[in-house]
Amino acid sequence: MAELPILIAPDPRLRGKAKSVTTVDARVRRLMDDMLDTMYAAPGIGLAAPQVGVMERIVVVDVSGKNEPSAPMRLVNPAIVWRSEETEAGEEGCLSIPEHYADVTRPARVRVTYQDEKGTAREIEADDLLARCLQHEIDHLDGVLFVDHLSKLKRDMILRKTQKLKKSKASA
Ligand code: NI
Repeated sequence: MAELPILIAPDPRLRGKAKSVTTVDARVRRLMDDMLDTMYAAPGIGLAAPQVGVMERIVVVDVSGKNEPSAPMRLVNPAIVWRSEETEAGEEGCLSIPEHYADVTRPARVRVTYQDEKGTAREIEADDLLARCLQHEIDHLDGVLFVDHLSKLKRDMILRKTQKLKKSKASA
C-alpha cells in the first residue's frame, strides 16, 4: 500500500485515452489499493488511473458518508451502458484541479458495467452522488475533465488558475 503522486492539470496524461485492462491480476489489484490509499489521503471520493499517470481503464470510488463505514469500490474497464434522460446539477471538484468547484449537469442515473478486483463481470445502477462520481471518473478515462462540461469562459478561467497554482507550487 502506497500513496501515489496525483497529476495536476495541465498534463497531457490527463487528456489521453486510457487503454482497456486485459487481465485483472496482482499488479492491477495492487494499483487499485494504492489508488484507494491516495484517494483517502487526498481526501477525495473518486480517482481514475490516468490521474496517477497510469493510462489504463481503472477507477476507484468511495461515496460513503463521514459517519458511515468506508465502502471502497474497485472498477476495471467501467463503461456506462445506460443513462437516464433526467438530468441533475451538482457541485463537482477534482483532485487534478485543486481548489475549484462548479455545478455540473449530468444524467441523474446511470447503469455501469465493469469487472471487479477478481475479474468478475458486474453491473450496477447508480443514482445521486455515486452516479455523478462514476460519470466523472469514467470521463477521466477518455481525457475528459469536469470543467469540459462548463462554459468555455468558466473552463478557461479555472484551467488558467490551476496552471498558475501548479507553477507556483513547482517553484516553491
Ligand atoms: Ni476528477
